[in-house]
Amino acid sequence: MKTSFFTIAIAILTLFLSLSLSQRCNLKDEKTLLKIKKSLGNPYQLASWNGDSDCCRWYYVQCDLYNDRITALTIFSGNISGRIPDALGSLSFLETLIFRKLSNLTGQIPFTITKLTRLKNLTVSWTNLSGPIPSFLSQLKNLTLLDLSFNNFSGAIPPELATLPKLQTLHLDRNKLTGSIPESFGTFTGKGPAVYLSHNLLNGTVPKSLGRVNFTWLDLSRNSLQGDLTVFFGTNKTIKAADFSRNMFEFNFSKIIQFPASLSALDLNHNRIYGSLPETLTGLNLQKWNVSYNRLCGQIPAGGNLQKYDNTAYFHNRCLCGSPLPACY
Ligand SMILES: *[C@@H]1O[C@H](CO)[C@@H](O)[C@H](O)[C@H]1NC(C)=O
Ligand SMILES: *[C@@H]1O[C@H](CO)[C@@H](O)[C@H](O)[C@H]1NC(C)=O
Ligand SMILES: *[C@@H]1O[C@H](CO)[C@@H](O)[C@H](O)[C@H]1NC(C)=O
Ligand SMILES: *[C@@H]1O[C@H](CO)[C@@H](O)[C@H](O)[C@H]1NC(C)=O
Ligand SMILES: *[C@@H]1O[C@H](CO)[C@@H](O)[C@H](O)[C@H]1NC(C)=O
Ligand SMILES: *[C@@H]1O[C@H](CO)[C@@H](O)[C@H](O)[C@H]1NC(C)=O
Ligand SMILES: *[C@@H]1O[C@H](CO)[C@@H](O)[C@H](O)[C@H]1NC(C)=O
Ligand SMILES: *[C@@H]1O[C@H](CO)[C@@H](O)[C@H](O)[C@H]1NC(C)=O
Ligand SMILES: *[C@@H]1O[C@H](CO)[C@@H](O)[C@H](O)[C@H]1NC(C)=O
Ligand SMILES: *[C@@H]1O[C@H](CO)[C@@H](O)[C@H](O)[C@H]1NC(C)=O
Ligand SMILES: *[C@@H]1O[C@H](CO)[C@@H](O)[C@H](O)[C@H]1NC(C)=O
Repeated sequence: MKTSFFTIAIAILTLFLSLSLSQRCNLKDEKTLLKIKKSLGNPYQLASWNGDSDCCRWYYVQCDLYNDRITALTIFSGNISGRIPDALGSLSFLETLIFRKLSNLTGQIPFTITKLTRLKNLTVSWTNLSGPIPSFLSQLKNLTLLDLSFNNFSGAIPPELATLPKLQTLHLDRNKLTGSIPESFGTFTGKGPAVYLSHNLLNGTVPKSLGRVNFTWLDLSRNSLQGDLTVFFGTNKTIKAADFSRNMFEFNFSKIIQFPASLSALDLNHNRIYGSLPETLTGLNLQKWNVSYNRLCGQIPAGGNLQKYDNTAYFHNRCLCGSPLPACY
């Protein structure tokens, strides 16, 4: 009895699987993909995109199992030239869109992308896209990851990005962005996304409003940012890793009485930070730590992980002293 039940179950399952495998992908999506291929000049890389086969099996795309709509378009590298086609906006079930290492992809992000309201993961990285980062990206309310790093984007960071309610990761690093960090970045809800803005041309004062967000990961390194970073520290803060190196931050480090217990990586090298190193640093489990090239003074507190770093974590300050630097006099 048991055996025959399982035999029937397996037979039904096999039938179901073979039916679903032979099913062709949505005709509308197939047409759209062929349009995209055409506007990119029918590149060799997309040779598998042809009407003779099920478009769910074409390279670089994925369908969902239930209704065979295209949910992912992911091209990780290659030789594709031209602009991102407007037709892309018709892949209305897309959740993941990745264009990466396509140095001949140029132009701007098309407005039609705002039609992709299911998009969760938008990555355009290591391409030659340029122009401003469009504020209309803030219409993509399902985004959890927005990665526009390693491109040629310029202009200001659109303040509207702070209205993306589900954003977990924001990579705008390695572009040519100018202006300051928007005040609105102090209004991210929830725990606040991991924010990477390094290697840009950002200047101005980091808004105090950012202190209201429970950021865990911040990389503002290699810009020309100014201001006071004490808003990120304090016992009720949540920062885990922060890279503020190579900017123009200027404040009295002694003013930070308490660091969040979560803090495990802090890079402050090449700024104008003065004052001395607070004793409470010895209570942290620092896995990465660098305060070199600042204007700090006084004795390096002994204990915790502070002596696990060599002198290069401390050198080029005004008058820091004590292990691992030479003793204080
Ligand atoms: C980009 O286009 C140029 C000119 O057509 C070509 O020589 C080059 O190989 C392309 N680059 C890549 C990475 O495919
Ligand atoms: C890239 O494609 C262009 C034509 O589309 C061709 O001229 C060039 O040689 C290709 N480059 C590489 C690296 O394949
Ligand atoms: C987010 O995606 C879901 C489907 O995954 C969709 O039903 C919903 O409308 C989207 N939200 C917005 C604000 O577009
Ligand atoms: C960036 O774009 C400019 C034109 O806007 C172009 O001259 C330059 O080669 C691009 N640089 C890179 C690294 O793509
Ligand atoms: C693309 O970027 C490379 C550098 O990454 C640059 O040499 C090239 O000129 C750029 N091409 C275009 C068309 O902007
Ligand atoms: C986005 O897609 C990339 C590549 O598939 C993946 O590694 C990454 O985990 C995805 N991120 C999110 C937040 O979905
Ligand atoms: C930040 O975290 C604290 C607890 O550490 C919590 O009380 C507060 O509501 C959080 N703030 C936001 C904006 O989520
Ligand atoms: C930021 O840089 C721009 C030039 O890119 C300059 O006009 C502006 O005055 C600078 N702002 C600050 C606060 O330094
Ligand atoms: C942290 O504490 C300060 C004062 O002690 C308070 O002003 C601030 O709202 C608190 N922040 C959070 C996120 O709870
Ligand atoms: C830095 O702050 C500490 C403690 O508030 C104070 O004693 C010290 O004089 C300040 N240092 C400078 C250079 O302002
Ligand atoms: C600290 O940063 C400086 C400047 O970038 C670098 O030379 C040094 O190797 C770093 N040291 C450590 C321990 O990270």
